Amino acid sequence: MKLSKLSWFPFVFLAVIIGLYPLIYYFVDMQNNGLLSTKPRELLNSTVWHTAFYIHITFGGIALLTGWTQFSQKLRNRYLSTHRLVGKIYVTAVFLSSLAGMFIAFFATGGIGNVLGFGILAILWFITVIKAYASILKRDINQHESWMIRNYALTFAAVTLRIWLPLFSDIIFHDFIPAYRIVSWLCWVPNLIIAEIIISKRLQKADYAAKTL
Ligand code: HEM
Repeated sequence: MKLSKLSWFPFVFLAVIIGLYPLIYYFVDMQNNGLLSTKPRELLNSTVWHTAFYIHITFGGIALLTGWTQFSQKLRNRYLSTHRLVGKIYVTAVFLSSLAGMFIAFFATGGIGNVLGFGILAILWFITVIKAYASILKRDINQHESWMIRNYALTFAAVTLRIWLPLFSDIIFHDFIPAYRIVSWLCWVPNLIIAEIIISKRLQKADYAAKTL
């Protein structure tokens, strides 16, 4: 099996595991655990924040679970109508989760650095999904692909955050807040750089193929 195919397994495994993670909030009382234990009582009792939080985690989970399926060229060629349907579910999920994410980012634990880190991520997540959708409405497949690569790299911040956070929190700082401050940026900036590298490699390949035709 080719290496590029093998590298799909950890990618898909992580997307599925973290995509299912928000279910914990439906089945376990999380008020005294993890992130929610850092929140003031009045925020936890706010219906608006509570609703936004649940919209964010539920649709964020759906985005992670559905997004990776869209990158397989085989599936796209064979089941185009499924690609379109799953694509619409993905776009709706990111749209709702990013808007809710922008709101809950104002109340992020850790101060202004985290408000900005998560806030900018939510804005870019929203803009890139709109760009991806607008470009496919114009039938511009190359642009659609590029914007979707950027967008899913940002969706994947939910995964990378949960890889970086224990590393910084348990091994480097032995403290949650300083780790969380770094990770609110580290979870998405490198992802976006990797997305740009993938996009430029694809463009170079397409350029080469066009020249050798
Ligand atoms: C990529 C854009 C995303 C942004 C901007 C974002 C933003 C945020 C923010 C601001 C919080 C609250 C942090 C705090 O109050 O300190 C949060 C928490 C959370 N988010 Fe996201 N998020 C994103 C993606 C996702 C995705 C794709 C999922 C799907 C699994 C997700 C699931 C969660 C969960 C479960 C929490 C609760 C914290 C925890 O239990 O770890 N987020 N997010």
